[in-house]
Amino acid sequence: MYSHTSPFTSFHNLVGGAIGGAVARAFAREGAKVFLAGRTLTKLDAIASEISAAGGVAEIAQVDALDERAVEEHADAVVAKAGSIDIALNAIGIYHVQGTPISELSLEDYALPITVYTQTNFITAKAAARHMARKSSGVILTLSTPVSQMPGPGYMGHSVACAGVEAFSRHLAGELAPNGIRVICLRSHMIPEAEAMGSHTRNVFRSVAELNGVTNEELMAGAAAGTLLKRLPTLANVADTAVFMASEQAGAMTGTVANLTSGFILD
Ligand SMILES: NC(=O)c1ccc[n+]([C@@H]2O[C@H](COP(=O)([O-])OP(=O)(O)OC[C@H]3O[C@@H](n4cnc5c(N)ncnc54)[C@H](OP(=O)(O)O)[C@@H]3O)[C@@H](O)[C@H]2O)c1
Repeated sequence: MYSHTSPFTSFHNLVGGAIGGAVARAFAREGAKVFLAGRTLTKLDAIASEISAAGGVAEIAQVDALDERAVEEHADAVVAKAGSIDIALNAIGIYHVQGTPISELSLEDYALPITVYTQTNFITAKAAARHMARKSSGVILTLSTPVSQMPGPGYMGHSVACAGVEAFSRHLAGELAPNGIRVICLRSHMIPEAEAMGSHTRNVFRSVAELNGVTNEELMAGAAAGTLLKRLPTLANVADTAVFMASEQAGAMTGTVANLTSGFILD
């Protein structure tokens, strides 16, 4: 989660992965005080050090984003320090099975991404919204992927998970609008930089690539070729869109999906 007072005060960011780190750095550049929370302190520390070296302010805390009580306590701690949570992002990512046809897919492998992504977004949004509602303002950001809209073999659990996060985000927007809270889902296509930085997507994409007899690089080149713009998004595209969506310039937007698929999915 992020807390900030420039245009932004505080940003509460659940996790320091590739996207979480890029978005945290972007909000820190905008003057937000950044609170990075995740399971692995070394990852969070690396991002916080970069933010501090660039003149920003960042704090880290060890929090499991599936532990409801720990997330609630961390949100309370952020508000005790920063006075508010202005923006919250849940950027967790987990390895899950892709590329396995339904005939060979276990119930556990199917259910894992659905359970994890829908539950963690519920937990972190609930914790942030409680504080945002008191100030009658705030922005909750969620993450999705094109498989929310993409029928095809091998994406069964993740597709339902992403469609679920998008539905959750729309519903949350309706539920929280009376409290002055906006909700925006960022749906990005594959990000080659994230994969190169060690994102969990490297292993997820590898299983799909192997199934198709190509390398990860060839898989991503094929994905880029399948977009209208013939390119995949960058981390900066996602981070800059997050900053815009959280700003007053996007003040009339809620309950929508920012479609960062380079024209692969047309809404
Ligand atoms: N990268 C892409 O191409 C892409 C494109 C579109 C959407 N997305 C979505 O964006 C999200 C993040 O992707 P990413 O590429 O940034 O992934 P990433 O680099 O692998 O980062 C994910 C982070 O989540 C942390 N994490 C996992 N479970 C956690 C938990 N229970 N509590 C706290 N932290 C937890 C992981 O750290 P630990 O395991 O050390 O805790 C890791 O640092 C995912 O939901 C993904 O589907 C990614």
